[in-house]
Amino acid sequence: MAQKLYIQTNGCQMNEYDSAKMRDVLQASHGLEMTEIPEQADVLLLNTCSIRERAQEKVFSTVGRWKKIKDKRPHVIIGVGGCVASQEGEALQQRAPYVDMVFGPQTLHRLPELLNQARGGHKHVIDIAFPEIEKFDNLPEPRAEGPKAYVSVMEGCSKYCTYCVVPYTRGEEISRPLQDIINEINTLAQQGVREINLLGQNVNAYRGPGPDGYNVDFSLLLHAVAAVDGIDRIRFTTSHPLEFSDAIIAAFADIPKLVNHLHLPVQSGSNAILARMKRGHKREDYLEIIRKVKLARPGISLSSDFIIGFPGETEQDFQDTLDLIDQVGFEFSYSFIFSPRPGTPAADYPDGVSLEEKERRLQIVQARLNANHQAVSQTMVGSVQRILVEGPSKKNPLLLTGRTENNRAVIFAGHQRLVGQFVDILITEAMPNSLRGRVAASNNPEPVSQYA
Ligand code: SAH
Ligand code: SF4
Ligand code: F3S
Repeated sequence: MAQKLYIQTNGCQMNEYDSAKMRDVLQASHGLEMTEIPEQADVLLLNTCSIRERAQEKVFSTVGRWKKIKDKRPHVIIGVGGCVASQEGEALQQRAPYVDMVFGPQTLHRLPELLNQARGGHKHVIDIAFPEIEKFDNLPEPRAEGPKAYVSVMEGCSKYCTYCVVPYTRGEEISRPLQDIINEINTLAQQGVREINLLGQNVNAYRGPGPDGYNVDFSLLLHAVAAVDGIDRIRFTTSHPLEFSDAIIAAFADIPKLVNHLHLPVQSGSNAILARMKRGHKREDYLEIIRKVKLARPGISLSSDFIIGFPGETEQDFQDTLDLIDQVGFEFSYSFIFSPRPGTPAADYPDGVSLEEKERRLQIVQARLNANHQAVSQTMVGSVQRILVEGPSKKNPLLLTGRTENNRAVIFAGHQRLVGQFVDILITEAMPNSLRGRVAASNNPEPVSQYA
């Protein structure tokens, strides 16, 4: 019987992507099959996140539980990858000596070799190097799982915001060659993928070698992806206000396949805080990008990330953030209380604001963002939205679900055969976390309405 692999993924979409690749490499090398039950696994992998303290804390509680599995079945191999592994390295195995393998985000393609070493009796196998782009040259062909797919276009981050661990855990920015990305997307399109989400910590910093050896930028990459047959919807995650060039903004006017949604993290609306975060831009620069994006794509939906209670955040700084939220009209967004991360400059900044006050501010921000989100959902009731049908709804498997361009889940009744296709849906109701609708009779260029 095939040996079994269990993977738990914490953190961002980069980690989700990497976990899928871990599964693929170990399936190819060792014939491991996935299981949903850790107790049945022969290899247990934890893909970790260290962006905030709470994420990091999860690691030891999870591997602690896994130790009990290993106590009963000593042949079980425990591996820890991702950002905590990258940051902690050997220290991780000192605290949890039963962890057999430690590997970083850039060395997951070496897992087969690491697994052989661990099985061969090596006690503490560790590989957390940053071997540049080698990872991508050593991964099996991508496999489509449904009509949506993520494709990594660049790795790492060179921005060094003062609060953030990512440049230390993932290394500096490095871009994949254009043709490699397009080949991967072609392969996925041939397997029925219709929507591509281009992944990276700062996709708009993309500078990858083009066909003639010269580097091409992100706007060119967007045009190249849009030209792939079968790909009808393009998203990207995440971008940064620096290097959000006019050419990228123009892509929103020129490429209809680019969705009507932009997630552009701003973190704070206060210039004093932005400077201490070392974001490299002012509030005014951000607003200028948004003004141009709205001109290029009227009605675009905008979302962001916010850090609340950055060291020394005054009431006025906080009001500036609220004011920016109102000015831009952000919809669903992420907001977090600042978490000091060891080794980052901001961890040592003096901070006079109490945790209670930070929590109060977080609640105000979240209420404001949520109200905006609900208001936009309400305005969508009565409109027809094109959604890409992903499959049965989790809550009610008799219904189908898919997402609108502005990334809202829509639940509706329809035939199984709609899965993987774009369908026009008349939105009938706005729920807190999703929309309800029914297949619209109108203007569907795909021969799908006959099934409804
Ligand atoms: N590269 C992206 C996002 C990276 S991490 C960007 O620069 O925008 C995702 C989000 O986690 C960040 O946008 C930020 O809002 C949050 N984050 C990162 N470090 C944090 C910290 N130390 N404390 C609280 N939130 C943090
Ligand atoms: Fe972290 Fe800043 Fe890089 Fe984003 S841009 S990953 S917040 S250092
Ligand atoms: Fe977390 Fe690493 Fe992603 S720290 S957010 S898993 S890049």
